[in-house]
This record gives sequence, C-alpha cells and structure tokens, in this order.
Amino acid sequence: MPEILVLYYSRGGSVARLARQVARGVGEVDGMQARVRTVPPVAAVTRVAEPPVPEDGAPYVERADLEECAGLLLGSPTRFGNMAAPLKHWLDGLGAEWASGTLVGKPAAVFTSTASMHGGQESTLLTMMLPLLHHGCLVMGIPFTEPLLSTTRSGGTPYGASHVSGPEDDPRTTDEEARLARALGRRVAATAERLA
Ligand SMILES: Cc1cc2nc3c(=O)[nH]c(=O)nc-3n(C[C@H](O)[C@H](O)[C@H](O)COP(=O)(O)O)c2cc1C
Repeated sequence: MPEILVLYYSRGGSVARLARQVARGVGEVDGMQARVRTVPPVAAVTRVAEPPVPEDGAPYVERADLEECAGLLLGSPTRFGNMAAPLKHWLDGLGAEWASGTLVGKPAAVFTSTASMHGGQESTLLTMMLPLLHHGCLVMGIPFTEPLLSTTRSGGTPYGASHVSGPEDDPRTTDEEARLARALGRRVAATAERLA
C-alpha cells in the first residue's frame, strides 16, 4: 500500500498530536496509509547520547523512508519564527537525496505549533516549504474551500495545519485544528494517489 511519510519533531507533544491528526487524514483516503517518523534531538556539543531507537513515540526517520514514500508531511514547533533545529539538522544532511531527485514530483505539506497566536506560525510554515521546493516537491496548503479555515479562532492556516498551545503549552488540539490537520493529510494522500 502506498505510504505518506509524516515526519515531525516535537519536544512538548503539541506537534506530535497534530501529526497524529494529519496521519489520520492520510488514512481516510482509500488505499493510502501514513508512516509516522521523528528526528533525534541535537545537542550544543554533538555526541552520541540518544538510544538508537526512541524510548516512546514514533521511530526515527531513515533515508529509505524518503525513497519509499509517495508524499511527505513535515511538522515542527515554531522556534523564534522558524522550524526547530533538530528537524533542520536532519534536512541539512539530505544532499545525496537532493542530488538524485528522491523527492521530485512528490506532494508535500507542512504543519506547526506555537505558544502564541501571532508568534510566527505563518513564517515557520512558509520557511519550512523552502527546502521542500529545493527537493522538487509539489508543495500544497489548505484551500479555503475548507469552511473551518474561515471560522477558526485557534490554529489552521492556508499555508498548513497548526496548533496554538498557549501560555500553559497545552498540546490538546481544538476541534478546528484537528479537522484542518486531517484535511491536509487527506489532501496530500489523495494527490499522491491521483499521481500514481
Ligand atoms: C527556544 C524556543 C523558541 C520558541 N519560539 C517561539 C516563537 O517564536 N513563537 C511562539 O509562539 N512560540 C515559540 N516557542 C514555543 C513553542 O513553539 C510551543 O511551545 C510549541 O507548541 C511547542 O511544540 P511541541 O510541544 O511540539 O514541542 C518557542 C519555544 C522554544 C523552546
């Protein structure tokens, strides 16, 4: 069965929850399933400190996942208006995949979480698209034909799915955030299916 890679980094659990909704959306498309993966954290002084397999949650991504996926959804918390270093670090190691065109023509989309409503969701989502464009992905957002996009008072943007965790850093998604995340997963999966 064709798979869509849902690749994310999350420290506090918000992006991880959003990733689960995105993956649910992928699975709502007949004949498609999600492969959920994460990236290891990075340290200021790089050393081998993490177990080769995470103690809980999604397994670490491998390069073969990029080769094998029919599409890709990339998620990261916002860090000063941009994606978090662990995800960027992993992306920065993909020179060979860029050179061989591993992701060319594959549909892709992005998702994020911020603590504050206007704390950089759009800048994070838009800048997360740049490496995907360099890799030749067909980058997609959420169309305004999704009615919740016009009415949401929490996360959910035309540039990708999102969650606002607030001052208490609450990872629980609102109904609108969850439904828009599923819509994004469905859209990438349905596009990959049509392309196949
Ligand atoms: C170093 C650092 C920088 C951050 N920068 C921002 C920011 O620019 N805007 C914002 O709203 N939240 C910012 N946050 C908060 C996180 O984006 C927010 O808590 C997010 O929901 C965490 O996602 P996670 O639970 O998946 O790790 C920052 C957090 C950290 C640790």
